[in-house]
Amino acid sequence: MAAPTRMPSSSPDSDPARPAGAPAPAAARPGRLEGKVALVTGAGQVAGVQVGNGRATAIVFAREGARVALLDRERSAAEDTAQEIERAGAEAFVIEGDVSAEDDCHAAVAACRERLGGLDVLHHNVGIALGDGWAEGIEFSHWERIMRVNAGGALLMAKASLPVMREQGHGAITFVSSIAAIVAGVARTNNSPAAYKMSKAALNALTQSLAQSYAQHGVRVNAILPGLIDTPMGVDTVARALGISRERYVAIRDESVPLKGGMGSAWDIANAALFLASEEARFITGVLLAVDGGQSTRVG
Ligand SMILES: NC(=O)c1ccc[n+]([C@@H]2O[C@H](COP(=O)([O-])OP(=O)(O)OC[C@H]3O[C@@H](n4cnc5c(N)ncnc54)[C@H](O)[C@@H]3O)[C@@H](O)[C@H]2O)c1
Repeated sequence: MAAPTRMPSSSPDSDPARPAGAPAPAAARPGRLEGKVALVTGAGQVAGVQVGNGRATAIVFAREGARVALLDRERSAAEDTAQEIERAGAEAFVIEGDVSAEDDCHAAVAACRERLGGLDVLHHNVGIALGDGWAEGIEFSHWERIMRVNAGGALLMAKASLPVMREQGHGAITFVSSIAAIVAGVARTNNSPAAYKMSKAALNALTQSLAQSYAQHGVRVNAILPGLIDTPMGVDTVARALGISRERYVAIRDESVPLKGGMGSAWDIANAALFLASEEARFITGVLLAVDGGQSTRVG
């Protein structure tokens, strides 16, 4: 679980054991996702000291009353998330699957229907970047894999979920994209190689296309574009690939964020995801929401 990052300065419910933006203890009010069934993809995370976006979002959804299905290709990682949720007294179950395999996507949605009675929220968090590179050096097979998982996985999860949502007459889909799709480079390492950027740009286009096509069915489709977030996959994995220490890479990323305080945390993404999934966002569809401390306003 995440170590504390930045604490709120003067929040009335300040709790030194709770990371900035992390869910507050269960309140005596109805949850913002009460009665909803949510499927979170990439709901585990790679090992590391900080919490990942998928896990944080699943925890926040469950705290707000959703019954949550946790899809990940790494069963044990998703099981750790389920344990967190169950310890807090909420409900979750794990589905092992690969979002780039169509059968797995259909099986995940079928499991939601069978076990939880439907599917109200699809939060599609999976994204990979390993093997990426600039045009001259990238292995085409790596490009294909990144495109297949990031853009193809989103399409396949939508393809499996939309018939259920259409039949219900409502649904909310949120894709986790990236500001990499819309800015020239992130962090001073100039780290914006081809495949990841192309895949997230495709995801943004898919968001707009689906939002337009499914609005008539009451299905909202939005995307969150995280900026620099302190997650194990975003920091530890990339630092290793760049051959620099975690501390050095954290410093580079912190310095690149305009908003005071440096990088965001996975709880910042989870809070945005909660809003988009909830009824508070009932009139919002087709939006590409940057959650980036102002970074995408700097370079376009
Ligand atoms: N961390 C950042 O700075 C940052 C910035 C911009 C965008 N994002 C996006 O946020 C999302 C989550 O990133 P994160 O760093 O928090 O990772 P995360 O901790 O949420 O981990 C991703 C999970 O996805 C799973 N996964 C990978 N491929 C899969 C597949 N094919 N099928 C099923 N599960 C699969 C992994 O096992 C892992 O548990 C990604 O889409 C990423 O591109 C992250």
